[in-house]
Amino acid sequence: MAESGILHGQVAVVTGGGSGIGRAVAESLSERGATCVLVGLRSSKLEETAAGLSTSSTTLAVDLRDPAAAGMVVDTTLTGHGRIDLIVHSAGVFAQRAVSDTDREFWDGIVDINLRATVELSRRAWPALRESNGQVVLISSIAAVQAFPGDGAYAASKAGVKALGEVMALEGRQDGIRVITICPAQVDTPLWDGKAPDEVRARMMRPHAVGDLIASLLATDRGIDILPVMIRPPVDPWQAP
Ligand SMILES: NC(=O)c1ccc[n+]([C@@H]2O[C@H](COP(=O)([O-])OP(=O)(O)OC[C@H]3O[C@@H](n4cnc5c(N)ncnc54)[C@H](OP(=O)(O)O)[C@@H]3O)[C@@H](O)[C@H]2O)c1
Repeated sequence: MAESGILHGQVAVVTGGGSGIGRAVAESLSERGATCVLVGLRSSKLEETAAGLSTSSTTLAVDLRDPAAAGMVVDTTLTGHGRIDLIVHSAGVFAQRAVSDTDREFWDGIVDINLRATVELSRRAWPALRESNGQVVLISSIAAVQAFPGDGAYAASKAGVKALGEVMALEGRQDGIRVITICPAQVDTPLWDGKAPDEVRARMMRPHAVGDLIASLLATDRGIDILPVMIRPPVDPWQAP
């Protein structure tokens, strides 16, 4: 059960806030009183999320692969809300291709959003986070530590996110910023559309449960350093029960 109001007064930037894990995180942060800035590609999806929140929010439709996007996110948030307390980097894509077929375009299509955009927004928001003693959540993946065929570019991007998060956590200590990395296995979100049958998706983790976990971690005592968190469904969704 959410401790309502525990994040009251905090301003959270949630990338990928129009869908899946990002939407669920925004809902859970809002339940705890945070104001949300929802960032993603499609404004219609961001508006859908905003309509379901119990606190005020702002939507910003941008392509985070654009080098100018991170600055826009930070400027829009500071202009509209005056501070940034939390950033949850949930924007990302998942696609599979054998390494032997991984050309530059395919690689960049994954790494640019999953890894490069995460670095860029973190870098641009760092002064505001230092000011607020803020917190950052990076969404890596189980693919960072467990190999699956076809995951070359995706796994490399997510291993990069995990490594980045661990370095940021150390660097954040001296600036009063806590950085938490989450490495989920399968979560039933639109990321799996066309990639997994319904019976497999039914055994995946629920997005709202993951959102609730992330919001709960953000509300924990700041005297606790949180190392990368691995989460998975109790049974492998791809194995018949
Ligand atoms: N679902 C899983 O099983 C799972 C497991 C481990 C890790 N993850 C990671 O969790 C994160 C969220 O995934 P999800 O499952 O919630 O998938 P999702 O429902 O497909 O959400 C992905 C979000 O990223 C946004 N996005 C994609 N490219 C973008 C870009 N260039 N600029 C701005 N926004 C962009 C999308 O915006 P639009 O909706 O507007 O297109 C969407 O809101 C991803 O990093 C994914 O790799 C997911």
